[in-house]
Amino acid sequence: MKIMICFFSGTGNTALLTHAFAGALHDLGHTVSEHSLDGLNSGLPGQMARQINDCDILGIAYPVHAFNAPANILRFARLLPAQRETKPVFLLKTSGEPLRLNDVSSLKLIRLLRRRGYAARSEYHYVMPYNIIFRHSDTMAWRMLTTARDLIPLDAAELSCGAPRLPRSVPFGSLIASLMRCEHWGGRLNGRLYTVTEDCVRCGKCVRECPAGNIRMEKDGKIKFGGKCLMCMRCAQSCPKDAVKIGLFVYWKVNGAYSFQRPSSEEPEQRYNKLLTRAYERYFREAERRIDQTKESIT
Ligand SMILES: Cc1cc2nc3c(=O)[nH]c(=O)nc-3n(C[C@H](O)[C@H](O)[C@H](O)COP(=O)(O)O)c2cc1C
Ligand code: SF4
Ligand code: SF4
Repeated sequence: MKIMICFFSGTGNTALLTHAFAGALHDLGHTVSEHSLDGLNSGLPGQMARQINDCDILGIAYPVHAFNAPANILRFARLLPAQRETKPVFLLKTSGEPLRLNDVSSLKLIRLLRRRGYAARSEYHYVMPYNIIFRHSDTMAWRMLTTARDLIPLDAAELSCGAPRLPRSVPFGSLIASLMRCEHWGGRLNGRLYTVTEDCVRCGKCVRECPAGNIRMEKDGKIKFGGKCLMCMRCAQSCPKDAVKIGLFVYWKVNGAYSFQRPSSEEPEQRYNKLLTRAYERYFREAERRIDQTKESIT
């Protein structure tokens, strides 16, 4: 089968897992291509639209933002070429915690897809380290990535044989998701409040890498932010001088990218509140059970 995966990734987590998923599908004999949605503004490039028409299954990968898909993912769904015959879609999502509420993040996207003639048949959700609010320990980040990498071949095999997988419904899910979508315009407003500190060395990395083209360097070298921010945290996380201040959310900033290396010395265990502790434990337990079951069925 020809499978095309279009992804958006603010700080790399979703990109890493998109790549792993594409690799697993490739190992199963499919032809897979990956396409970043960085810079998507008013229209889909013709080449991309043709490839979408041509593929057998379309994958869409995104990080959960405020229990929703990011604004540019919804824009992408609106721009998709209309299909006469329903085209199957699968979704890949990453989020900072495994709360069930994250399941509602795809509801609006699925509705938009349906209008263009696409049907979401399965969704795969992986927990990856937070890029806002708080920083996960290196041990936790590494555990999240290795767990996702162990699950992905199982999910790719499931997708490959056409088994549907949709999340369970959440009471008042649509209402909660639509209320939380204020993050889209809130993010754009907050983006205007971003500033850089005097540590900025005017290297231009943030200008080049912003997926929304929202950062510019003025003639005098000053860095300015516009009103198109996606709140993706790329500029904040990747600035070599840690100079970006993220407006009202300044105390939620997560500095520097995760290395995802296996931690060499045992770190103290990361502490969370009760709800999160239970949610993480359940996520890892269920993942391990699935991985073990598959190993047993093979041997
Ligand atoms: C603005 C914003 C909102 C977020 N909202 C949620 C959320 O509602 N639930 C969640 O579990 N994680 C949330 N996250 C965390 C990201 O989904 C998570 O870190 C993700 O793996 C980042 O992927 P990326 O590196 O591909 O951008 C949020 C992150 C950002 C920047
Ligand atoms: S990446 Fe950081 S140091 Fe470089 S221009 Fe942007 S804010 Fe300044
Ligand atoms: S300004 Fe920063 S947070 Fe906003 S879209 Fe650009 S890189 Fe992402």
